[in-house]
Amino acid sequence: MNFTIVRYDSVASTNDEAASMARMGGPEGLCIVATEQTEGRGREGREWVSKAGTGLYVSVVLRPGLETRFYPVIPLLGAVAVYDAIEQTCGEKPDIKWPNDILIKGKKISGILAETCETDIGLAVILGIGINLTSAGFEGDLERSATAIEDIAGSEADCEALLRALTHYLSVHYDELESESAISELLKSWSLRSSFASGKEVTVKTRNESIAGTTEGLDPLGSLLVRTADGNLITVTAGDVETLREQAPDNP
Ligand code: BTN
Repeated sequence: MNFTIVRYDSVASTNDEAASMARMGGPEGLCIVATEQTEGRGREGREWVSKAGTGLYVSVVLRPGLETRFYPVIPLLGAVAVYDAIEQTCGEKPDIKWPNDILIKGKKISGILAETCETDIGLAVILGIGINLTSAGFEGDLERSATAIEDIAGSEADCEALLRALTHYLSVHYDELESESAISELLKSWSLRSSFASGKEVTVKTRNESIAGTTEGLDPLGSLLVRTADGNLITVTAGDVETLREQAPDNP
């Protein structure tokens, strides 16, 4: 995949900007980067605080050649690429909390929001990625639950190096994604990078219920498998994972 980067000082949401360009025929690899988002969005309709200069806010237009039933693996691909980019630029191994939160020392450093959008030339996927660069402006709950590149690297974040690494790894993993066996390799890569993939005691909060159990890997579409105390294996397609008790991370 070749990237064309279009930069803005301030947008409502890079995902909205990328979607509107995709509707106008914007090609795969079009990458919207903004210094600030005034209406940054997270998963489940949450806000993604996006003050000027405090994060990397980027959205990439994808036009996958995959059957749409495989689209749920795309945010997991984003998580693998973000993991690799952070590891390369900070020298620190993150963790991935299903489906695609990137954590360092248990605190969230990056989130991913993938959305589809109908265009004249087919369905596009907008892969939106936010990476915290500095924690200086964190308020409220973020102070406890989030971290930033600056805190990990101990020096000012090099946003351009991070963006270069991110586009590099996105293209490496995306270009491989051509067959069902490639998808299963991608899911293996995800699992290798995540201490949540298996053997983790979790509670998953979905819209309607709370499921407690132990993780048992991913299904072929990237859903999380959770074994409950009564022995049932539940396939979780959406929700927020919380740990029951902290365990030593065993990701590479
Ligand atoms: C989450 O963890 O809830 C997902 C956060 C995704 C934030 C990014 S920042 C770039 C892109 N534009 C948005 O409005 N959201 C995503």
